[in-house]
Formats: sequence, C-alpha cells, structure tokens
Amino acid sequence: MADQYAVIGNPIAHSKSPFIHAEFARRTRHDMVYGRILGNPHDFVGDVRRFFAAGGQGMNVTLPFKAQAWELVDERSSGVERAGAVNTLIPLPDGRLGGDNTDGIGLVRDLSANHGFDFDGKRVLLLGAGGAARGVLPSLLETGLDALVIANRTATKALDLAAAAAADRASGCGLEGLNGRCFDLIINATSAGLDGGVPAIPHDCLAMGGWTYDMFYGDTPTPFLRWGREREAAHALDGLGMLVEQAAESFFLWRGVRPSTSPVIARLRGVMPTPGP
Ligand code: ATR
Repeated sequence: MADQYAVIGNPIAHSKSPFIHAEFARRTRHDMVYGRILGNPHDFVGDVRRFFAAGGQGMNVTLPFKAQAWELVDERSSGVERAGAVNTLIPLPDGRLGGDNTDGIGLVRDLSANHGFDFDGKRVLLLGAGGAARGVLPSLLETGLDALVIANRTATKALDLAAAAAADRASGCGLEGLNGRCFDLIINATSAGLDGGVPAIPHDCLAMGGWTYDMFYGDTPTPFLRWGREREAAHALDGLGMLVEQAAESFFLWRGVRPSTSPVIARLRGVMPTPGP
C-alpha cells in the first residue's frame, strides 16, 4: 500500500495541498497518497490519533488547528518551540509524534530563492501578531535583516510577540506607531483580507523600490497584493509560492528528498497547463 499522508483543517475543501503533494510525488516517483481531512473542532486530537494509528506517515495541519497541533506533539524542533504553531506532524520511530513548522522557511525561500529578495541589511515590517505572524517570526529572524518591526492593530500583542522573540533586531508597535517610518519589505500576516480589507497603515511606509508580500493568496488578487501594486512596489507578491515552498519542506522532512517547486508553482498559476516531466 502506498504511504498515507493528509492535510487536516476546517474548512479543507479548498486546500491546494493534495494537488501540490501529488505533483511532488509524481515528479520524485515516490509512492504515496495525500488526502484531506475535515477536522472536528471538538476532537482534533482524536482525528490525528486515528490517522496515525491507521498507519499514516505524516500530516499537515492548517487553520484553525496549528496551535492545537503545537500542544499535541511530544517533540518540537527548536524554532517551533517559540512559534507556538505546528503545521507538520511527523511520526517518530519510538511511536511519539514530532512537530515542525515549515511556514517560515516557505516564506523566506519564496522571497529569496524564487524572487531574489536579499534580506541583508533590510528594514522589514511584519503586519499582524496572530498565529500566522508568530509562525514565521523565527525564520525571519534567521535572515540577515537589519530590523524587524511587528505592527498590530492591537499594539500589546505586537509588543508581547517582539518581547518573546528576544532579539535586538525585533520591536513591536501599534499601526499608528508606523507614522514617519518606512520599510524595504512589508509582509501581511493579518487576516484583514478575509473581509476584503488591508490593515490601516500609512500610505508612505513602503520605501522606494520596496517589496510587499501577502502571506495569503486567492484566485483573484488579494487586497494587500493590490495595495502593493497601487504603491508601485518593486515586487508585489502573494502567498502562493510560500504555500508550495512550505509543502516542499514538509515533503523533505517526511521523505528526505526536496522536490523542485517552480514547475508546481507554474502549474498552480496556470502558466503550464500540461504536466511536465
Ligand atoms: P491567524 O492565526 O491567521 O494569524 P489570528 O490569530 O486570529 O489569526 O490573528 C489575526 C491577525 O489579523 C491579528 O493580528 C489581527 O489583529 P488584532 O490582534 O488587533 O485582532 C489581525 N487583523 C484582523 N483583521 C484586521 C483588520 N481589519 N485590520 C488590521 N488587522 C487585522
């Protein structure tokens, strides 16, 4: 029987992860199937336990279960200890469950490897202080960025997150604290776009030649992607590349092989409709 993998979330029908992993498996010739599980909000732990008891080899976790997954695992990788969110579950040889978070690596790799952003010496603004922001913070702080400002509508949450990061280069503030400051890269990790909005940040806080990145994506341009385009960002990007890159890192953790991502990103963007080799 092929090795069994799945993504669990609620809702889950829209998830592109089964497509992405099927592409990785086909291209690397790995014999695996990757399904989707609609998680029960009242029995997430039971859903996970049943999957692994039935022989599951690995699981991705998406909204709204990433914090619960962090609680559930027996062993966490070091970055994840601080992230407070787990998106990759790995069964350990001794029967316990390991947890990792590949979102941050996915974000950094999409920006730097796929698009050529050089973090060295840059001023980076991270918008939001919820689970999405927390999950990518450790990876951002591993880059050569000069300063990372976490700004949130509720200022205290940004201040707490920056304090927990315990890094000289990280600081927190409310959105109003951004007046008069400007950044080389602005990353949206808020859920404002789900209601069609963007966080209320100053119009001029993107530096000349600065980049914008929305950690979310949609079939039509997200509000923050449009915000970046309207401000003539050098690159205004959405989170599709991050989605594929985090999947590739999960695949690597499970299978020991890093699949190439660019053909899969291209297929999802619809620029390469027929399967390649
Ligand atoms: P997630 O796990 O997706 O990060 P979350 O933990 O609920 O979800 O966090 C949502 C984030 O989006 C928060 O930082 C939230 O700001 P508050 O902490 O002030 O609530 C932010 N957010 C949501 N809607 C927003 C909006 N319209 N404008 C600005 N920030 C918004």
